[in-house]
Amino acid sequence: MSRDDDVGHEAERLKNEWEDRARSEARDFFVASHEGWDDERRWAAQATQDVAFITTGLSPGFLAEADVLALGCGVGRLVPELLARTRSYTGLDVAPSMVAEARRRLAGEPRARFFESDGLGVPAGACDRHYALVISVAVLIHCPRDVARALVHAGWERLAPGGVLRFQLLGLPADDEQPSRVPSDREASGPGPIVATPTATTPATESHADPPAGDATAPPRSGAPVDDADRSRADPSRPVGPDDVAAPDPSLAGERYMGHWFTEQEARDLLAGLDARDVLVVHVPPCHIYVSATRG
Ligand SMILES: C[S@@+](CC[C@H](N)C(=O)[O-])C[C@H]1O[C@@H](n2cnc3c(N)ncnc32)[C@H](O)[C@@H]1O
Repeated sequence: MSRDDDVGHEAERLKNEWEDRARSEARDFFVASHEGWDDERRWAAQATQDVAFITTGLSPGFLAEADVLALGCGVGRLVPELLARTRSYTGLDVAPSMVAEARRRLAGEPRARFFESDGLGVPAGACDRHYALVISVAVLIHCPRDVARALVHAGWERLAPGGVLRFQLLGLPADDEQPSRVPSDREASGPGPIVATPTATTPATESHADPPAGDATAPPRSGAPVDDADRSRADPSRPVGPDDVAAPDPSLAGERYMGHWFTEQEARDLLAGLDARDVLVVHVPPCHIYVSATRG
């Protein structure tokens, strides 16, 4: 089977699994599995923090004129906050019921629109313009590496010159940050660290820290080659669990709920061959990597 077949198969799997989640009563939990996900006020507060984080360092003037493309928009959770700062919002999502719900929730917002995607690219309807800002929040953390690469490249193609791409990945803990435990499902699954450290580590600051040498049992330092054994030590492939945040239906998480664990080098490699400048790769402990890049 070719690599194209594999990635197509994975995209199909993601569509089916996310559609099941989107149709379930637990839909909003899977969109934003933070504590208070079922409380309207805390849901909105979380969205405010997430948008503040993902737009860190972008000037109000840049944002005010920005058309935004969101890869994996879910139910449109971030739309009100983003539209308070930007010109328009275009969201795509692999799950048709997520798209339907986003359209329903944002029906009164003429500056927002939503499209179903194939899990790998940007659908034709969203290709009528280039975007100053392309974002992906809490999406690629659920995707295999080749799916993530396809989405990043597809989003990049839609960037206007000088436009900014920002996305979040699951980050393999570096040696000096390795917790004595595997990161909890809540830490790994939701946009949690966006919330936890918005001021301490921003996408505007590249991490140059050279981690100290670790012991043989720790996962490798960022950027080092990773073998399967290393990954398995950090990979909480068990599904999101009710011990972290009460999931109405944890069975929907499935065995492959979380995606590929990236080293910082692998995160950089996603941009290989693209005319990217001002590339920032920020590891937010314990288990997220944020990437920001500007189209040359
Ligand atoms: C955890 S939710 C986050 C939604 C939204 N970004 C937010 O922060 O509210 C992940 C979303 O990504 C979508 N998704 C997952 N893989 C995708 C892919 N390969 N292409 C497009 N959407 C995808 C899912 O259907 C789901 O709606």
